[in-house]
Amino acid sequence: MANREGAVETFLSAASRTAWGFRLELAIVAALAAAWLYSTRAIGVVAGPVVTTVPVAAVAAWPAARRLAWRQLRYASVRRRFSAAIRTTGFDRLKMGRTPQIVKVRETPAGYRLQVRLPAGTSATDLDNAAEVAAAAMGVADLRVSRDPRRASIATVAVIQRDPLAGPALPCSLASAGGWSLWEPIPVGLDEDANTVNVSLPEHNLLLGGEPGAGKSAALSLLVAAAALDPTVTLWLLDGKRLELAAWEPCAARLVGPSLEEAIEVLDHLRGEMDARYAQLLAWKRRKVAPDDGLGLHVVVIDELALYLASGEKKTRDRLAESLRDLIARGRAAGVIVLAATQRPSSDIVPTSVRDLFGFRWALRCPTRDASDTILGAGWAAEGYSRADIDPASRGVGYLLHEGGVPVRVRAAYLDDTTLARLAARAATARGHQP
Ligand SMILES: Nc1ncnc2c1ncn2[C@@H]1O[C@H](COP(=O)(O)OP(=O)(O)OP(=O)(O)O)[C@@H](O)[C@H]1O
Ligand SMILES: [Mg+2]
Repeated sequence: MANREGAVETFLSAASRTAWGFRLELAIVAALAAAWLYSTRAIGVVAGPVVTTVPVAAVAAWPAARRLAWRQLRYASVRRRFSAAIRTTGFDRLKMGRTPQIVKVRETPAGYRLQVRLPAGTSATDLDNAAEVAAAAMGVADLRVSRDPRRASIATVAVIQRDPLAGPALPCSLASAGGWSLWEPIPVGLDEDANTVNVSLPEHNLLLGGEPGAGKSAALSLLVAAAALDPTVTLWLLDGKRLELAAWEPCAARLVGPSLEEAIEVLDHLRGEMDARYAQLLAWKRRKVAPDDGLGLHVVVIDELALYLASGEKKTRDRLAESLRDLIARGRAAGVIVLAATQRPSSDIVPTSVRDLFGFRWALRCPTRDASDTILGAGWAAEGYSRADIDPASRGVGYLLHEGGVPVRVRAAYLDDTTLARLAARAATARGHQP
């Protein structure tokens, strides 16, 4: 008897859950059936069905309405699939039979984003622990759970069906720019929601890392392009390969190849310039350079930082590291920006006294989670922000840690050789060079 009651209860609970899951579809069918019955009685068996069919035909014929209806049906299906998938993880059994309540569904380039209210007694971490099994049950690539920073009871679940950052290279919006002000944010790529990601360089230094071929030099060239397009910016280029930055030579005050002595010369010159600027700012009673003071920004670009910090004689290397450390440490208010790229900024290659001063980090694909952590800073890989997870074919994809304080997954835009040469020529002309 007790068994029978239990079975009936289980059946009713499953039936009500299914009905609730299909509430949108059931409501539509119920509304149409009611309209059909009412209109048949009120205006007859011919006119009634015609009147009921008109709104359905109108929705089917009007593209915007059809899209809206189709989207709502898809959202309802995602809700059902997510709830069913969560139940397969045992989350509901552990948490008194309750699953997260879906508050909002939105479509994203990667799939869907769900805002869920967590049942009492659970947290976003519990849901995150169930995510891998639920993703498998849902048949999607991934479910990424993040807690609402303002409310512990709300979590966002990104349903990843496809990688929005895969595919052909992204064109760079700087490519058609006639000029640029480096005081303005620079568009460097797209995030997973297809929003443009901008980097604001004044008062910041950026360190780029990633395995060979990950796209460091290409990403660096976007920032160099913006700096070159601003004639008030003085560019200093240190290029270990003497090849990656060569196109920008006409726009630069100096381009140094793989010579540590010349690199030290440039850095020391800039330290002198920095001291002179501080004296000037003191006289003006200002605390930092500003767009209107005519001083302009200095941008120091170092590709293959490891070559300068880990090769040659120790005495020379140490001297270079000290000059660089001083420039980064004191350069902010004087308008000196350092952008550096290296394959792996581990402490045996880049002294931590230098590495830790870079406020912005951009980690492209790395061979291991440790390497990823070395670029972004300790701990981010454990939080799921690891560039070791990037598909090797996805060049230019990485995590950018900048203003928001949390790494953002970004696909960098790409300047091919022809566009880059054209842009460099335009920037050189704007700086008064004869073509
Ligand atoms: N954002 C991007 N979109 C598409 N393709 C890219 C992108 N970035 C780089 N690539 C491709 O990857 C190749 C290698 O890129 P890049 O030279 O920037 O790598 P790297 O990380 O600097 O490598 P290395 O450590 O050897 O210097 C480029 O020649 C280009 O074909
Ligand atoms: Mg490179």
